[in-house]
Amino acid sequence: MGGPRALRSRRSNLAVPGSSPKMLDKAKGLAADQVFLDIEDAVAPLAKPEARKNIVAALNEGGYDGKVRTVRVNDLTTQWTYRDVIEVVEGAGPNLDAIMLPKVQTAEQVVWLDLLLTQIEQTMGFEAGRIGIEAQIENALGLTNVDAIAAASPRVETIIFGPADFMASINMKSLIVGEQPTGYDVGDAYHYILMRILMAARAYDRQAIDGPYLQIKDVDGFRRVANRSAALGFDGKWVLHPGQLDAANEVYSPRQEDYDHAELILDAYDWYTSEAGGKRGAAMLGDEMIDEASRKMALVVAAKGRAAGMVRTSTWTPPES
Ligand code: GLV
Ligand code: MG
Repeated sequence: MGGPRALRSRRSNLAVPGSSPKMLDKAKGLAADQVFLDIEDAVAPLAKPEARKNIVAALNEGGYDGKVRTVRVNDLTTQWTYRDVIEVVEGAGPNLDAIMLPKVQTAEQVVWLDLLLTQIEQTMGFEAGRIGIEAQIENALGLTNVDAIAAASPRVETIIFGPADFMASINMKSLIVGEQPTGYDVGDAYHYILMRILMAARAYDRQAIDGPYLQIKDVDGFRRVANRSAALGFDGKWVLHPGQLDAANEVYSPRQEDYDHAELILDAYDWYTSEAGGKRGAAMLGDEMIDEASRKMALVVAAKGRAAGMVRTSTWTPPES
């Protein structure tokens, strides 16, 4: 339902606890594509009312330029969600891009948030429908409903894997989030979950985002786990510590050579299919045969590269006739 919203680069999604004005401020200067200011699991129950206020102040003060600004509210099994949304969106709506809803279990929960956002926008005179929704899938029921969740509102921009809560939800036996559970040696325990989320995201033009890697000092481990979801097609991953930022931005960007090659394919195919190029639907680019499917793959890589601000380092010229 609903057309795709503008594609925003979300290679790195930095978690920032709303209870810490210092961290809210520090995040403004870090190279994250997205910040999500948390009122959920990184904030103790007694600190939640204050976290809402800190977040509103930090957003309205500005400084997150160029970043997607998201706030993670508490999930709908708690008493806090409605106040989180109302206080944050009424207080800082124009300076906020999306609300992240954790532990989403049904499409109805997304519809609830969509309707509440619409009411707040109307009451406050904010632009209708501008604030997006990020849906975190963190338990078995959420995963079984993920297609309906992705389709539940045109505001949905991302579907996010929450591995820590998910492992708890399905009783997975593991010590390190994202790594193979101890004793598990047949394939990849996370493959099914990642693919399920990815299919739902792609079916409805949403972004697919991988969750956190908790061993924040082990950047090689972060890279290993990130490479796995990036290879499948995920758009980005959570970052819990600034030390993980560079790895995320790198892993979820195309390599320079792949980006250059994608732009070359687009230019070459555009020319070959034209009158001047002979109206050909299949043609050779060096030793590679390209056709409409090559163009589609190239469009994906080029879009990721452009969204990440990459600059091409080669140009294509039509062959001499
Ligand atoms: C993130 O919220 C997770 O549970 O992994
Ligand atoms: Mg979680």
